[in-house]
Amino acid sequence: MEEKRESFGSKIGFILAAAGSAVGLGNIWRFPYLAAKYGGGIFILTYIILVVTFGFSLMVTEISLGRRTGKSVIGAYRSADRRFGFLGPVAALVPFIITPYYCVIGGWVLKYLVTFVTGRSQAATDDGFFGGFISHAQQPTVFFVIYAGLTAFIVIFGVKKGIESMSKILMPLLVILSVGIAVYTLTLPGAGTGVKYYLLPNFEGFTLSKFLKTIVAAMGQLFYSMSLAMGIMVTYGSYMRKQDSIEGSVRQVSLFDTLIALIAGLIIVPSVFIFSGGDADALNAGPGLMFVTLPKVFESMKGGHIVGAAFFVLVAFAALTSSVSLLETMVSIVSEKFGLKRTGSTAVCIVIVFVMGMLSVLGYGAWSSVEIFGCQILDFFAFISNNIMMPIVALLTCILIGYVVKPRYIEDELTLNGEKFRSKGLYELMTKVVCPVFMIIILLTPFFVSL
Ligand code: PHE
Repeated sequence: MEEKRESFGSKIGFILAAAGSAVGLGNIWRFPYLAAKYGGGIFILTYIILVVTFGFSLMVTEISLGRRTGKSVIGAYRSADRRFGFLGPVAALVPFIITPYYCVIGGWVLKYLVTFVTGRSQAATDDGFFGGFISHAQQPTVFFVIYAGLTAFIVIFGVKKGIESMSKILMPLLVILSVGIAVYTLTLPGAGTGVKYYLLPNFEGFTLSKFLKTIVAAMGQLFYSMSLAMGIMVTYGSYMRKQDSIEGSVRQVSLFDTLIALIAGLIIVPSVFIFSGGDADALNAGPGLMFVTLPKVFESMKGGHIVGAAFFVLVAFAALTSSVSLLETMVSIVSEKFGLKRTGSTAVCIVIVFVMGMLSVLGYGAWSSVEIFGCQILDFFAFISNNIMMPIVALLTCILIGYVVKPRYIEDELTLNGEKFRSKGLYELMTKVVCPVFMIIILLTPFFVSL
């Protein structure tokens, strides 16, 4: 017997949940340092252009595919065309790879949240604090388990009562927190220079090869930030009500996602810039930026422990709504495949997350010498999913829609309510030509330039 598919209860519920998935660690921690690294305004402009073209088209495709078929990502591709059925499992594999390490990092965020909220922020400014924390497996494991447990707790309640209710509470709080912190940091003396550094294009040393790298970096960030090419939006689309507008929702979700990334940059770039006395290298700290540099920056501000605590609450909210979407996608796949109920499949998925997450935890501790193709375990997982699997899924999805089932397949779903598809021309051009060509370039780039 087939159970009735769950659904979101309102259009705003869908938008907030999809935005919750999109807004995450990628916006707050990754976007600012990429922008600082790739010429400030140049990166920002490139990114925005990609959002309204690629991001828009791919998100429309995924949500429509989900809603039209009413299936999880595995069933959805098969329903569209049997020969493309294999694409479902490939896309489905991505959340299985990302969720565990995302929950490990979520655990780190919780650790910092606790440290700041309990007034021990001073300790976090120690050079060895972060390294010491991640290299001993015990604490990272505890925080990872708590974080993953929290994620599972929400998923167990289902689409409407769990995900939608959580998003309706956390997303508005997230906006208030991010705007509040940004306003505060912008009033600090010297913030102006930092803002200029962040927003104005910096053409110094900007060669063609650097421009190519900027596009590749912006594209990678786009997939990750908008939660594309991994079945998430297909899954959320399958829970969307037929009467709600897909095109309008996609616009709002992408706007939300981009604004939060820009605001996060306004918080991080100027404050690190002031703290380091204008040394741009301080922004290039990669993963260390959020966990090593920022605590020091907060500590140097007046009332910094409060700003720091608020900041880590913000990051925790953003991460949680994303990991919920990741786990939900896994759960929908497992329950469809094995005919399990929500509770059962959540249990199965959480065991998988735990076992794989432990590999990442240990990758920074006892097994830190283990390398796969020269990367640490966590970086390796991130690399194969972001740089290989996601572009392949995006490329084949465009071929499926552009040439096999034809864009009509998607357009029919969009215009179900007699609504006009306003960006039809752009959508067809992107899906048939621009997107596939770009995906091929992205897949080939690592062979030509070292990224
Ligand atoms: N989009 C999220 C972010 O920006 C990350 C994410 C990736 C969420 C994949 C779900 C799936 O952090």
